Amino acid sequence: MPTNRPTLTSSPEWQALRQQQEKLESRPMTRLFAEDPDRGKRFFIQGAGVSLDFSKNRITDETMDALMALAHSCNLEERRDALLRGEKVNVTENRPALHTALRHPGNEAIMVDGVDVVAEVRKTLDRMEALTDSILDQSRTGFSDKAFTDVVSIGIGGSYLGPKLVGEALQPYWHGGIRCHYVANIDGTDICETLRLVNPETTLFLIQSKSFRTQETLENSRVARKWFLEHGGDEPAIARHFLAVTANVAAAEDFGIKADNVFPVWDWVGGRYSLWSAIGLPVALTIGMDSFRALLAGAHAMDAHFRDAPLRQNLPVVMGLLSVWNNNFWHAGSHAILPYDHYLRSLPDHLQQLDMESNGKRVNEAGQPLDYETGPVIWGGVGSNGQHAYHQLIHQGTRLIPADFIIPLKTHNPVATHHADLFANCLSQAQAMMAGKSLEEARAELAAEGLSETEIERLAPHKVVPGNKPSNTLLVEKVTPETVGAIIALYEHRTFVQGVIWDLDSFDQWGVELGKQLGQGILPRLLGDADKNPDSDSSTDNLIELFRSVSR
Ligand code: F6P
Repeated sequence: MPTNRPTLTSSPEWQALRQQQEKLESRPMTRLFAEDPDRGKRFFIQGAGVSLDFSKNRITDETMDALMALAHSCNLEERRDALLRGEKVNVTENRPALHTALRHPGNEAIMVDGVDVVAEVRKTLDRMEALTDSILDQSRTGFSDKAFTDVVSIGIGGSYLGPKLVGEALQPYWHGGIRCHYVANIDGTDICETLRLVNPETTLFLIQSKSFRTQETLENSRVARKWFLEHGGDEPAIARHFLAVTANVAAAEDFGIKADNVFPVWDWVGGRYSLWSAIGLPVALTIGMDSFRALLAGAHAMDAHFRDAPLRQNLPVVMGLLSVWNNNFWHAGSHAILPYDHYLRSLPDHLQQLDMESNGKRVNEAGQPLDYETGPVIWGGVGSNGQHAYHQLIHQGTRLIPADFIIPLKTHNPVATHHADLFANCLSQAQAMMAGKSLEEARAELAAEGLSETEIERLAPHKVVPGNKPSNTLLVEKVTPETVGAIIALYEHRTFVQGVIWDLDSFDQWGVELGKQLGQGILPRLLGDADKNPDSDSSTDNLIELFRSVSR
């Protein structure tokens, strides 16, 4: 559903935001806080068990009004409703993006090309439940009738990052019957080291690939199958030990997996949005279906909030618009995701794919080149570790890096005063980003230490922290299946909101194809099966020659 705007940047709404930025340039956040004692409470919203403090952004009420006006001018509400109704919002692939249907609790049908996807989802969840139960109650066993103890999930990108994140995040909910291992990389070390940890008699292999065409996943799966056959398994035992999750049933069958061991994903689910489907099987196997359904319920609660809450109170909308604000008007080229929770340590990796694969685009839906910046670099890591690594650059570097701090109010592991310590670290980092330290403060500090005037003048500039660095603080009561579901769904919708403003197709990923195509030409040359390609370049040729010189 392309919009009819001539260009985004010449729209009156965009121009109003430019004026806002100019007005706020000379008003540091410390002043905004001083002028409005309620600021911390006023720029604070809640939904689906998640709270968002966005007061530490360079905004006023006027700015928020201008951002909402931009959202209206981009038909955000209509486009959101089209997404949720299952319209073909992925315009370059002519598909819906119906990940919300995967966690839809009701029975009302959502039709895609004449098929009720809600019924399909329900059927698949029931199959997942039957499989999970049969493994946990040991009615399904390995070829020597021993109970399964390990699952090796082989997949990459969206068929890996989401399940890995959620599996780790919900460790307190593991029932302990099954250990899960993830193999993604084409680097042989990944599969070899994993196979060293498991016993073929008690290991289930899950081949996770929507397309069943991904080189890494297929090669690793072949290695796993060969290893299995060389370590006691035989061809009939493959049916007991190898399952696939894919939209390409024929390719899975060609690989040797029986159709009733294949779980579906569908074209209308993007890879990076697929953890809610049977791609979530490794998670279901480690936490059980009740907890998996609670994860879906948490995500659905966020979907309902996104659908129903007024834009100004709507977490994904506010976060998406603030991201546009920081990216396009304050020229932040990256965005840090900083979970202050060990269980959420893989959240930055998952959000990196979600956001960068979705919004790393250079043309609009109509294919016209854009004259504004789109998706920022998403990166980050767990706090407080990052404070002793990259936070220096956030505080005193020359680049503007907005950050999302994510922290639970309660911990699963109360020990000494650790959780209060962690919380204090999180709050103080956000405060330091916002308030900074002035030259006067730096001088006064050094004077209090008794330094000479000359030393004070020499050192003070190094101690200045400019501040005015925007951040959001996201809070949940505790890391639970529901809150993890809600946080991930929040970021999915935030990504969509940005894509709507930037007028992108957030659901395709054509850019990743070129490297795959070129790789197909390089591989036979490395293996000595093909001659020099006239279209190649001297750098690639030289590096291929180097590889060949040691592998001859
Ligand atoms: O190469 C990118 C990509 O297509 C992602 O979008 C996807 O999540 C990943 O590869 C894995 O794809 P598949 O599940 O089809 O193996």
